[in-house]
Amino acid sequence: MSKNYKIGVIKGDGIGPEIVDEAIKVLNKVGQVFDIDFEYKRMLLGGEAIDTTGVPLPIETKEGVMLCDAILFGAIGGPKWDMLERHLRPESGLLALRAHMGTFANLRPAMVYDELVDASTLKPDVLQGVDIMVVRELTGGIYFGQPREQLEDRAYNTMIYTKEEVKRIAHVAFEIAMKRDKRVCSVDKANVLEVSQFWRDIVIDIAKGYPEVELSHMYVDNAAMQLIRNPKQFDVILTGNIFGDILSDAASMLSGSIGLLPSASIGSQIGIYEPIHGSAPDIAGQNIANPLATISSASMMLRYSLGESKAADMIDEAVKMSLKEGYRTGDIGAYSAKEICSCSQMGDVVASYIKD
Ligand code: IPM
Ligand code: MG
Repeated sequence: MSKNYKIGVIKGDGIGPEIVDEAIKVLNKVGQVFDIDFEYKRMLLGGEAIDTTGVPLPIETKEGVMLCDAILFGAIGGPKWDMLERHLRPESGLLALRAHMGTFANLRPAMVYDELVDASTLKPDVLQGVDIMVVRELTGGIYFGQPREQLEDRAYNTMIYTKEEVKRIAHVAFEIAMKRDKRVCSVDKANVLEVSQFWRDIVIDIAKGYPEVELSHMYVDNAAMQLIRNPKQFDVILTGNIFGDILSDAASMLSGSIGLLPSASIGSQIGIYEPIHGSAPDIAGQNIANPLATISSASMMLRYSLGESKAADMIDEAVKMSLKEGYRTGDIGAYSAKEICSCSQMGDVVASYIKD
């Protein structure tokens, strides 16, 4: 009997619909091979939701996501909605969704494909073999801290972490490290911020439960520099919300393009899977975006939410094969391309490598 999963699909704005369509194409193919039935439920979030319902996170979406096995998400936002009040902007919808779903752990792998080792602005010998997992706390910190306000003559936000929040994200990082190279680097700004010293103390405490894992600490400014200088020194990077946002963008360029890196937001029953890049309004609707980050996010969804690791492996292999055979979208096209592909052609190519 075939297995059945209900996938909430949020295509979003800009290039969102194009890249999600390619991920669905690949999921359907993998479904054929593994006898899995994916039932897709479309939901609105961000700009599209604002245009249709007036709010970035409609109640139908809030309720709908809770009835799914996992959420596949494209990207949201664009200049069209930038002048709206903050709480009505697309980004607020995404943050509210993360909080609503309780997806406090954001996993952002940054690996360098051998085939693309020339595609980065950094030297190949710095990059070859890089394999980092950024574990970013996603529902706390300065993104959500109260009080926050913008006044006439000043504005403020609050970076706050509770013990429970730090403990649970630290556990996620150490558990992941146990399945990898058993090294965690916790990134903070403990030389300046009380909240960071608090973070560090708790991480040290949690580490005692994982004697096999080597724990180190780094200030965030140094970590940004070290990511560029010698990225191979990192295995798992554990960090808070805003530092993780910044470091994961930096780490993405190790791979050659932000269009390659997927993410998983987990920690509660239902995970959200999305590329780490944004909605790229400048190239939207042209069928030139790179769908690989979203396709790889679908793979993470199979692995982390649905327990279908063989299907996930097959997608990862298909992505690698596509790159190995020289297929490139424009963002990585200057590097040993056999063929510059459109977004949909790239999806076709990946799907073609998925077979029994
Ligand atoms: C990300 C994005 C979001 C974030 C924005 C769109 C709110 O940059 O997922 O990294 O800052 O978390
Ligand atoms: Mg970001």
